Amino acid sequence: MFDLEKFDLKLNTDVIGRNFIYAEEVPSTNTELLNESEFYNKHGTVLFAEKQTEGRGRKNRVWYSDDKLNLTFSILITEPKYLQKINILNFVASLALAVSIENLYQLRTELKWPNDILIEGKKVAGILIESTSKGSKISRLVIGMGLNVNQISFQRKFTTEPTSLKKELGHPVEREKTLAEILNNIEEILNTSNKFPEKILEDWKAKCKMIGERITVVSVDVTKHGIFNDIDKNGFLVLRTEDKMETLHSGDVSIL
Ligand code: BTN
Repeated sequence: MFDLEKFDLKLNTDVIGRNFIYAEEVPSTNTELLNESEFYNKHGTVLFAEKQTEGRGRKNRVWYSDDKLNLTFSILITEPKYLQKINILNFVASLALAVSIENLYQLRTELKWPNDILIEGKKVAGILIESTSKGSKISRLVIGMGLNVNQISFQRKFTTEPTSLKKELGHPVEREKTLAEILNNIEEILNTSNKFPEKILEDWKAKCKMIGERITVVSVDVTKHGIFNDIDKNGFLVLRTEDKMETLHSGDVSIL
């Protein structure tokens, strides 16, 4: 059982998570928060669920997470200053997860474009950012995060082998302090991203070990090979192919 008091004691934020909603079960925390509701309208609201019946990952994949063992939650972002620069939010969120895992557990993390968090090449967490618009403007955006904490067996086949904090450390860890640390770091990194977005990208790139490597990028309709040259200021992957530089907006990256 998630102990709200323990969590609250470790939460040091001004805004993120101050409106905290605990749910035993929802279809998906992202879907819930994307819908307007009197409980869910405040910027920084966090919806945490012990169980998701329709948890979603990137590219319409299912996000599998055993009940009550992990962290599955979403953060509502409605402040216009963040909605104007949504590309950076992927980097803010994944960096915050990586920094939190390193600070609390001294595990070395690696970031995989666009937003996976790996330990020893295995996926420990993923992020799904979704939004709704009014006219041409984004009105609500949610940052959904799934972190494998105390789950140790993963039954299905995954494109990247999964792991959890418990698997890597060899002992269970406390979800309450882990969630508080993540939200504390998100708030700090979000604030920095507003003033110095280039600093976020630099910190992110320092944790991305694929830059400079020969890679394959698989997207819906096409597979491309080349050198992972860089991430540009918009957060897109710059791929050096034989004859040119290409800017890719999405895809699954693997080292050749
Ligand atoms: C991915 O790596 O494919 C992204 C996974 C994102 C999963 C989280 S769990 C909380 C939130 N609610 C969802 O339905 N998905 C995200």
